[in-house]
Amino acid sequence: MGRGKGGSLLVRRIGRLLTMDRPEDVEGIRDAAVVVRDGKVVFAGPEADLNRESVRDLPILDAEGGLVVPGLVDCHTHLVFAGSRADEFEARGAGLSYEEITRRGGGIMRTVNATRAASRDELFEGAIPRVWKALALGVTTLETKSGYGLTLESEVRILEVIRDLDRATPVDLVPTFLGAHAFPPEVRDRRVDHVRAIVREWIPEVASRGLARFCDCFCETVAFTRAEAEEVLRAGLDAGLLPKVHADQLSHSGGTRLAAEVGAVSADHLDFADRQDIEALARRGVVGVLLPGCAVSLGQTRFPEGAPLVEAGVKVALSTDFNPGSSMTQNLYLTGTLAMAYMGMTVAQTWAAVTCHAAEAVGLGHRVGRLVPGCDGDLVVFHGDDPRIPFYEFGGSHVARVVKRGVVVVQRSRRGEVSFADGD
Ligand code: NIG
Ligand code: FE
Repeated sequence: MGRGKGGSLLVRRIGRLLTMDRPEDVEGIRDAAVVVRDGKVVFAGPEADLNRESVRDLPILDAEGGLVVPGLVDCHTHLVFAGSRADEFEARGAGLSYEEITRRGGGIMRTVNATRAASRDELFEGAIPRVWKALALGVTTLETKSGYGLTLESEVRILEVIRDLDRATPVDLVPTFLGAHAFPPEVRDRRVDHVRAIVREWIPEVASRGLARFCDCFCETVAFTRAEAEEVLRAGLDAGLLPKVHADQLSHSGGTRLAAEVGAVSADHLDFADRQDIEALARRGVVGVLLPGCAVSLGQTRFPEGAPLVEAGVKVALSTDFNPGSSMTQNLYLTGTLAMAYMGMTVAQTWAAVTCHAAEAVGLGHRVGRLVPGCDGDLVVFHGDDPRIPFYEFGGSHVARVVKRGVVVVQRSRRGEVSFADGD
């Protein structure tokens, strides 16, 4: 769904419009309107500049003086999984580290075992409410990764579920292959063979079936070494899958530098990246994706820093990293709250990080994340026009309407009742 010609719509009485054409401008356009025709933006500007005659045929969405921004892009999630790891969250609160939990047989393998045991239908049924929940929060483009299968067959199954979720909802899902997420115990003493299988069998199969757009790798002491990660990412590139990297999340293990060297689309986490790493990202034009939900879930008080990236000229995106182990939240606004409170990011940088920069992190900067003529007519209308409020009043949602390609797909009352339409 959401793949048809798209709808046509006039959004008027916008109190403040952030087009993200100039991401640093958080003043935006007051008393604005947006016109979408056949799913694409054809006008975004002051309502006074609108030629009334040209829009007489269009259905009207009254923004009631609210803020309007481009549809949000959540550019790093792992939303197809089974089971829960609430006990690990509880154990970390009692002092156990993520790495120690992994060494004791918890961590990613817990979710892998539950996910392998689930049927395709169970995975789909478990994931689909998460996609609708993202949409209700204003997320119209959603990257999501495999990585909880770790055999070719189960990785493919997850990617097929992602494809089915894309077809079944108005949200655009962007699939990423993360077969190199961890070494399952059955291959731990055959690391070389396992990497060879990923490179020679898994990646060609996934790529030839068109099941993924990106190839990601968890480069970390508890996962893939820098050399192993490089082999995987270069094989992905050869097969047409653009690289992404889980980089320097838990230690300074070289993932950020690797992302720059292979020309990754994004380098994600960056908690332990140093100045030289960041400069390398800037030189190569790699988007930096910061995931502060992990710090919360891991019980850390240290957050990845946004300001040094911005100063170095790296485009900064923010994402939830929604997953059952290290970041069990889908609320991008909460992520923005953390960015503003702890990571030195301004409100303008925060909005850019969940719209236009996040779009670039999934290679879709030409199509989504901005409201300019030619882009998809994806937008969010908020109750109230103050762009700080969705982050300042944290932990909830201020969404009033969500529009996907010119079709109103979510309506949310001031009392918080949400109703969905399927889109076109
Ligand atoms: O992005 N870092 C690796 N992958 C996930 C965690 C996955 C898990 O613990 O299940 C992340 O944080
Ligand atoms: Fe992740």
